[in-house]
Amino acid sequence: MANYVLAIDQGTTSTRAIIFDQKGSIVSTGQLEHEQIFPKAGWVEHDPMEIWGNTREVIGSALSKANLTRHDIAAVGITNQRETAVVWDRNTGKPVYNAIVWQDTRTQSIVDRLAADGGVERFKQKVGLPLATYFSGTKIVWILENVEGAREAADRGDLMFGTTDTWVLWNLTGGTDGGVHATDVTNASRTMFMDLETLQWDHGILEAFNVPASMLPEIRSSSEVYGTVHGSSLLREVPVAGILGDQQAATFGQAAFDAGESKNTYGTGNFLIFNTGEEIVHSKNGLLTTLGYKLGDAKPHYALEGAIAVTGSLVQWVRDNLGLIKDAPEIETLAKTVDDNGGAYFVPAFSGLFAPYWRSDARGALVGLTRYVNKGHIARAVLEATAFQTREVLDAVNADSGVDLTELKVDGGMIANNTLMQFQADILGVPVVRPVVAETTALGAAYAAGLAVGVWGSLDELRANWQEDSRWTPNMDDSERDRQMRNWKKAVTKTFDWVD
Ligand code: G3P
Repeated sequence: MANYVLAIDQGTTSTRAIIFDQKGSIVSTGQLEHEQIFPKAGWVEHDPMEIWGNTREVIGSALSKANLTRHDIAAVGITNQRETAVVWDRNTGKPVYNAIVWQDTRTQSIVDRLAADGGVERFKQKVGLPLATYFSGTKIVWILENVEGAREAADRGDLMFGTTDTWVLWNLTGGTDGGVHATDVTNASRTMFMDLETLQWDHGILEAFNVPASMLPEIRSSSEVYGTVHGSSLLREVPVAGILGDQQAATFGQAAFDAGESKNTYGTGNFLIFNTGEEIVHSKNGLLTTLGYKLGDAKPHYALEGAIAVTGSLVQWVRDNLGLIKDAPEIETLAKTVDDNGGAYFVPAFSGLFAPYWRSDARGALVGLTRYVNKGHIARAVLEATAFQTREVLDAVNADSGVDLTELKVDGGMIANNTLMQFQADILGVPVVRPVVAETTALGAAYAAGLAVGVWGSLDELRANWQEDSRWTPNMDDSERDRQMRNWKKAVTKTFDWVD
């Protein structure tokens, strides 16, 4: 009997296929990076055809490494970088423009135009999000207004929009030959168009954005059979049965199923998600209200989210743009050459600042420099930036929920960095805990898919799979912690008002 589940994780920097067994352990992985296209300052694009080609390849390599075939795979789950917008022609299957990535800030003037009538919180009560360049809605508007022929094609009903889950699902299930055009509630909740209560597209908001409803995918739950893989694929006839945006998938993979549970993922950016159960909680402290998950016909779970745009991508920037290190792990080696940051603070406001500030006028700053500061101190400031930003988001979660988190479950690439994890515990003042299976994003998508087809029978079964691997406990006195946070907050104020 087929009892493996294959998860496709279409992330910001790479696409992976990971096969899990019934215990939630990894059997094999295929991974390919894709090009990051930066046509202008603030613009970030991906080539959707490259992403789809990579998806096919990584599926093949995961299957062959595990020596498995489609007959062993019970279901496919998809998880994805959220908000990244792809618009394509339903007749040719070709994108009309590159994918505009979540980090891209080109739509600021569209944000300003929409905010002129009612401010950036104009739609927040309904969709849980402020108007910001981050979300997919304004990216679709940009494509319709700037790509030749796009508006007319959209009005004729020829264009489809999707975040990358939808792009992968449509292609996997046949593309122009009957592909399924759908997304799940978690991804839909990142567009600006989905009503949090009805879980349907809001036609009033679509009108305000001037986006035709015909472009949008159908909104489905996070765990159900959307369709089966098309005959041309190695996985033909396998059901695609789970979709979760990557941060919600990581929350699910961490078994944070109930209200009050949370996780923090250290990826390109950092995303702290706090499950609020069946209750829609509106933040007073700069957090987003978003969907957590919805399993089939069951009621949805909502969440508060602290989204930080730049954490791991700052390390990449130090590697690629400054050449200070040769590979990402070297940042820790360099940071360990010194005992502290030497007074330097690095605020990586490369895409403006997300939570809890939502300042699109912010740009990055390295402050507190003296002749004493060397590259070791800068490496420390780079790592510490991730921890300080996380602390600010955790403070917002504590303030909104009225309860203080007593520990933080973590996952994502940067948690391999012990120096960062120790500093994170120090600056939070609560323990930081890492699970054995740290690939929680793919695991969450696999869980959602496996639940839909009966590989797993209940959430309790999944909870039993979660095991602690390591724990960092705080080791900094309160006055030092307070001093560091004061300096950090002062540094943040230096990033404001940089856009003319
Ligand atoms: O909201 C953006 C987020 O989904 C991207 O995650 O892990 O690809 O950086 P990641």
